Amino acid sequence: MEVLRVQTVAYQSKDAAIPAMFVRAETEQPGTTTVHGVKLEVPIIDFSNPDKVKVEREVMEASRDWGMFQIVNHDIPSHVIQKLQSVGKEFFELPQEEKEVYAKPTGSDSLEGYGTKLQKEVNGKKGWVDHLFHIVWPPSSINYRFWPNNPASYREVNEEYGRYLREVADKLFRNMSLGLGLEEHELKEAAGGDDMIHLLKINYYPPCPCPDLVLGVPPHTDMSFVTILVPNEVQGLQASRNGHWYDVKYVPNALVVHIGDQMEILSNGKYKSVLHRTTVNKEETRMSWPVFIEPREEHEVGPHPKLVNQENPPKYKTKKYKDYAYCKLNKIPQ
Ligand code: SIN
Ligand code: FE2
Repeated sequence: MEVLRVQTVAYQSKDAAIPAMFVRAETEQPGTTTVHGVKLEVPIIDFSNPDKVKVEREVMEASRDWGMFQIVNHDIPSHVIQKLQSVGKEFFELPQEEKEVYAKPTGSDSLEGYGTKLQKEVNGKKGWVDHLFHIVWPPSSINYRFWPNNPASYREVNEEYGRYLREVADKLFRNMSLGLGLEEHELKEAAGGDDMIHLLKINYYPPCPCPDLVLGVPPHTDMSFVTILVPNEVQGLQASRNGHWYDVKYVPNALVVHIGDQMEILSNGKYKSVLHRTTVNKEETRMSWPVFIEPREEHEVGPHPKLVNQENPPKYKTKKYKDYAYCKLNKIPQ
């Protein structure tokens, strides 16, 4: 069965009307639901700051009050990020049939592969975005069948980025652990240690003739513990703050961090997952490279035992990640 990709729709609808399945209800259209003229300045945390106590406090406060922040001076060289972006872009610019070689197999229950969200959302609408998903860590979970062979350097570049990213993730977990009053190593340990899955997604948002009417990714919170994301320079990420949608300020060379549902649960609600969505651009292609750091399917996640007692009862159930994901995807109350 041939699947219609948004990239193809975008190409066909240049200067023309777009198919109705992409046009959002008025209550959802970014043109009318975005607070225009202001950019949300989410906390920016300097990871090179020698004042460790300050970094720890900033990570804790941002995770608690925003569920989102940006990291600058994170030690990932800019050439590593640029290469990650250019090999991803080269892949999406390949002829359609070359990309389809990596298509997510029909019926597969893993997310991995090239694709377009097939299921329409509850309201019957579709997002203006195609994607590629593949695991980058741990080695035993990697399936190279979903890593493009073209461009030839794709694997090496993604492996290099993955190594640097693990350092950032470790530092993040250490700081978040201290921010909960735990020992430095305890949060990562409870989350699954080095067995945690790092799942890379590349989002490819082609230009859209009517960006005010469509969404890239509809409003959601990530299911992960944390998501660490590199965007390209095209504006598009929005976060909900006090019930309103704002553009999140693009900061060159920053990594965007989202607190996900599993971290909210593990921290027993001290850290909050952030509601976000994306918009698209009339002329330019937006791309982003989130890495979802998440539990293994069988790993049980619940409030950390050291954070609950008589005065602080658990606010969330403990359950296997695969059961959490199943309920969320099927809209079954947790
Ligand atoms: C997402 O949240 O799934 C995408 C975020 C982005 O593209 O910036
Ligand atoms: Fe997300």
